[in-house]
Amino acid sequence: MPGRVEGKVAFITGAARGQGRSHAIRLAEEGADIIAIDVCKQLDGVKFPMSTPEDLDETVNQVQKLGRRIHAVQADVRDHDALKAAVDEGVAQFGRLDIVCANAGLGSDGARLDAMDEKTWRDMIDVNLTGVWLTAKVAIPHIIAGGRGGSIILTSSVGGLRGHANIGHYIAAKHGVVGLMRTLAWELGEHGIRVNSIHPSQVNTPMVMHEDTYRMFRPDLENPTVDDFAAVSQSMHLLPTPWVEPRDISGAVLYLASDDGRFVTGTTTVIDAGAMLK
Ligand SMILES: NC(=O)c1ccc[n+]([C@@H]2O[C@H](COP(=O)([O-])OP(=O)(O)OC[C@H]3O[C@@H](n4cnc5c(N)ncnc54)[C@H](O)[C@@H]3O)[C@@H](O)[C@H]2O)c1
Repeated sequence: MPGRVEGKVAFITGAARGQGRSHAIRLAEEGADIIAIDVCKQLDGVKFPMSTPEDLDETVNQVQKLGRRIHAVQADVRDHDALKAAVDEGVAQFGRLDIVCANAGLGSDGARLDAMDEKTWRDMIDVNLTGVWLTAKVAIPHIIAGGRGGSIILTSSVGGLRGHANIGHYIAAKHGVVGLMRTLAWELGEHGIRVNSIHPSQVNTPMVMHEDTYRMFRPDLENPTVDDFAAVSQSMHLLPTPWVEPRDISGAVLYLASDDGRFVTGTTTVIDAGAMLK
């Protein structure tokens, strides 16, 4: 039986690990070839360990094991020319582009907005908002040129739909992603290109599974553990889970990328265990 995205090509940012790797594997399982980029190094202001070249190699191995092709490049979503080169090369190899997952993003230490320094603000906006725009910008001409339509999926967050104290730079960037999504949906609809944003609650990835997050969620404890974090994280959800798994988000990506979502555009898809109702 053909896969749900058989013969299509997907461009995925932040593909070395976490949700990006999961999207690459899920789309490859359903028949897509992958163009993958990730910065694969530690960026300023990020305290938890970021991805490595070995992580990106592992994504390559896993996609190839599924019998699909992958063009993987170390590139920063803030670098227009590097992004463009990666996508142009991938399209030259695989012949087309159908799906974009603008997934790369980071978390950094926050503060109240009146106390936040400008560098922390700008670094966040550059990666989590401008990087999403640049990802779409370098991909759109290829999808339009194919004449077959396509699907662009921008990763926001529950924090892109509601506020939260002390991480205003992240919240503003993720709300900005919704503005990008709604504008792109208007601009690209006539080409049959659908654009949607996805909004996960806490996901079990290295971005949240570290001590700084535990401390942010449990300021009442001196040395909070993952179990202390889990209790508060659970209390934010209606369903009995403290977090969701990357593959849960990939299921939403697959729906939006495939013909199952062929008339879905301009939407904010939440995968949040009920967090938005609380
Ligand atoms: N983990 C969560 O709880 C959660 C919840 C809601 C939304 N998100 C969003 O989901 C997306 C994926 O995050 P994740 O949970 O898989 O975390 P992750 O840290 O495991 O993966 C993020 C990937 O993006 C890459 N990246 C970061 N900055 C980059 C840059 N400038 N250029 C290229 N690549 C870069 C990292 O190297 C990393 O491999 C992010 O946009 C994040 O904001 C995460």
